[in-house]
Amino acid sequence: MKVLLVGSGGREHALAWKMAQSPLLSALYCAPGNPGIAALAECVAIGVEDIDALVAFAVKQAIDLVVVGPEGPLVAGLSDAMRAQGIDVFGPSKAAAVLEGSKSFVKDLCRDYNIPTAAYESFTDIAAAREFILTMKVPVVIKADGLAAGKGVIIAQSHDEAIAAAADMLSGSAFGDAGSSIVVEEYLDGEELSFFVLSDGDTVVPLVSAQDHKRAFDGDKGPNTGGMGAYSPARLMNDELQQKIMDRMIAPTVQAMKDKNMPYSGVFFAGLMVVDNEPYLIEYNVRFGDPECQTLCLRMQGDLLCVLQACAQGKLADVEDELGWADDVSLCVVMAAEGYPGAYQKGTVIKGVNAANSMADVTVFHAGTAEKDGALVSAGGRVLGVCAKGDTVAAAREKAYVAVDVIEWAEGFCRRDIAWRAL
Ligand code: AMP
Ligand code: GLY
Repeated sequence: MKVLLVGSGGREHALAWKMAQSPLLSALYCAPGNPGIAALAECVAIGVEDIDALVAFAVKQAIDLVVVGPEGPLVAGLSDAMRAQGIDVFGPSKAAAVLEGSKSFVKDLCRDYNIPTAAYESFTDIAAAREFILTMKVPVVIKADGLAAGKGVIIAQSHDEAIAAAADMLSGSAFGDAGSSIVVEEYLDGEELSFFVLSDGDTVVPLVSAQDHKRAFDGDKGPNTGGMGAYSPARLMNDELQQKIMDRMIAPTVQAMKDKNMPYSGVFFAGLMVVDNEPYLIEYNVRFGDPECQTLCLRMQGDLLCVLQACAQGKLADVEDELGWADDVSLCVVMAAEGYPGAYQKGTVIKGVNAANSMADVTVFHAGTAEKDGALVSAGGRVLGVCAKGDTVAAAREKAYVAVDVIEWAEGFCRRDIAWRAL
């Protein structure tokens, strides 16, 4: 099978690493990829949102399956453009990607299909938003409706702060068009969990859980990021909770998408808040989470490529038993450039990655890296995912941090407390 993987982060390196183990694979291309992925795939210099160039490449190379990593190209319609050429795609249509592209769509779906979520209202007008905010308890959560790279959520500690955030979003000054509509919602006081499920539009196959660490600094302090580390399975997960998530969230969502004539094919990434073993949906994403995906790929047994192709072809039912999961724990520590998620330097030299990667039970995935004059340098905010497996959370964590300390990168930082809740 000839596969084109779209993306350039740690998630894509992990997917490439896992797909490369499949006997079904004959050629793997990645657009645009990174130096870690380049060891496993032929990287092609096409941007993830250059739909015309991606389709032209896939047609020319007679690609059998396109695997789309990030949400941007999905929301922009990459899957539809590939399918129009008769190419199988792992990833939802543009229409179905609205599950990540619009928070108010998801909130309305929760209301119509009785999916547990925080109480909310949507607004396009500041006067009405203000009136509603004043009726809410604080903290209160204000969200830009559209895609805002994970930054469009404000947890306001006072009514004044909430009204200011709402006004900022609605005026377009905070997030442009993504904030022209907002959601105001109740604050849920619980613990977060990421859960992943494959759907081919009909059949659903639960994968596993992970817990991400969204804040930049130890102790869950500092600004929100794309994720500073994760471990799998999440400590809160149990069979009963999984069943509740499948019955109360995933099944009605799959049904809703069918009812709305936009069947969902791809991965559901349910961002959940768990309050007293009860799950509440915070958001859906239409892609694998990163760094969660790195921890998933490490625990996954069986042939990922076979499963992704079956998902793309509407044949998930045939391969339901293909995926198994190792009982052990996987853990990822993200090494980021000093300053991230704010401004940071690029092009700083990183040493010791190969040494870390060759340690027992350790795998280092590349995210924002590049090669310059034969050296590995930083090229983004989140730069490396240093991952390890162990029998327990403590064992996986110990190995991951030993590996982190082998990496020499003066301009980088990481959290030192990944999985602290699970110890
Ligand atoms: P989202 O982009 O919707 O995932 O929100 C970003 C982060 O804000 C989440 O990961 C949560 O930590 C937090 N968050 C969002 N909605 C709520 C809520 N209703 N209650 C508490 N925290 C929330
Ligand atoms: N790690 C969270 C995300 O990928 O959105």
